[in-house]
Amino acid sequence: MMADLSRRTFLGAAAGAAAGLALGARPVRAAESREGLKTIAGRKGLLFGAAITNSDLNAEDEALYIHEAAIVTPQNALKMTGIRYAPDVVDYGRADKLVEFALSHRMKVRGHTLVWNSHLPAWVGKLGAAELGKLVDTHIEETMAHFRGRVAYWDVVNEPIGSDADDKRWLRPGPITEKLGPGYLVRAFRRAREADPSALLFLNELHTERSDEFGQLYRRRLLRMIDELQAANAPLDGIGLQGHVLPDKPFDPGSYTDFLEEIGRRGLEIHITELDVSDTSFPDDITTRDRMVADVYRNYLTAALRSLQVKAVVTWQMTDAASFDYNVSIHEQPKALRRPRPLLFDLARQPKPSWHAVAAAFEEMSNRIPEL
Ligand code: XIL
Repeated sequence: MMADLSRRTFLGAAAGAAAGLALGARPVRAAESREGLKTIAGRKGLLFGAAITNSDLNAEDEALYIHEAAIVTPQNALKMTGIRYAPDVVDYGRADKLVEFALSHRMKVRGHTLVWNSHLPAWVGKLGAAELGKLVDTHIEETMAHFRGRVAYWDVVNEPIGSDADDKRWLRPGPITEKLGPGYLVRAFRRAREADPSALLFLNELHTERSDEFGQLYRRRLLRMIDELQAANAPLDGIGLQGHVLPDKPFDPGSYTDFLEEIGRRGLEIHITELDVSDTSFPDDITTRDRMVADVYRNYLTAALRSLQVKAVVTWQMTDAASFDYNVSIHEQPKALRRPRPLLFDLARQPKPSWHAVAAAFEEMSNRIPEL
């Protein structure tokens, strides 16, 4: 980690001082001109960005997003739990702040997410079928109307596929699946198109990067779902693949690229929507661990970016300190000496080997800007 501090750094005195304080490290030099990943990716027609939360709206983190990101995904503020957390509440406040920040720096916004069986506000889970159906419709209409013209892409449906081995029960269970039935998917996409015809509509799914039987099940079911939605003329524009990569599970680059090409052949754009790399199966030593995480990023992205349909790569937060894994670790093991390092920037907001691995994968990928 110390080696990172000797690397060139673009962040100015404030971040440098913070890094020095936090790590007792040598002074950090003032601003310089490392290219951001958005610039490296942008030359080839790829959008790079990260999830963002309201606690990232501070000078140091904002500087990092402005330098690195061409696209952001509000991590939780646009979920139903972020907007309708009580029956009499419709609160776009936190999401508005994030969207305003993004647009004022010419970043695009991925809206995440409108319809999801998980993380429903408790009161919503208790509604009867008719009321739940009405609420889901209203939520899509009002939320998309509020952000019309400001949110370019919407994960209309999140994680619709289930893990039950029985193909008859292939949809992820939950209040929406159970009370509205399998028709909820087509219904949601139709409502979404009406609510904001200018937004591109995505279905976002997890686990497909695994090449074991479990991952294969998700791949097969996702292709089947696309086929069924297209057969029903549902307005589907793209597929989000989350990419929470677990290095202790098998990953076969060839079959992953083939899977992405299968999606591409169905005329859909692909976004890698929630990329991070779990380091739990790697050694404690930080230099070794960071190197291994970087190799996983490189290997994964090289396979993903072979598909020219991949038009955006979004990591699930920008820095280790803000990552999902880090925060779970603080919560569950407050005294642990080892903390997860799943992202591209360390605790001092300095680029890690994984940043360089992602940059290298972007430098090597083929151009996805269509010939005129
Ligand atoms: C997670 C967030 O990172 C957490 O802060 C929150 O408590 C729960 O949700 N798949 C998704 C994301 O689609 O919305 C999830 O985000 C991670 C898994």
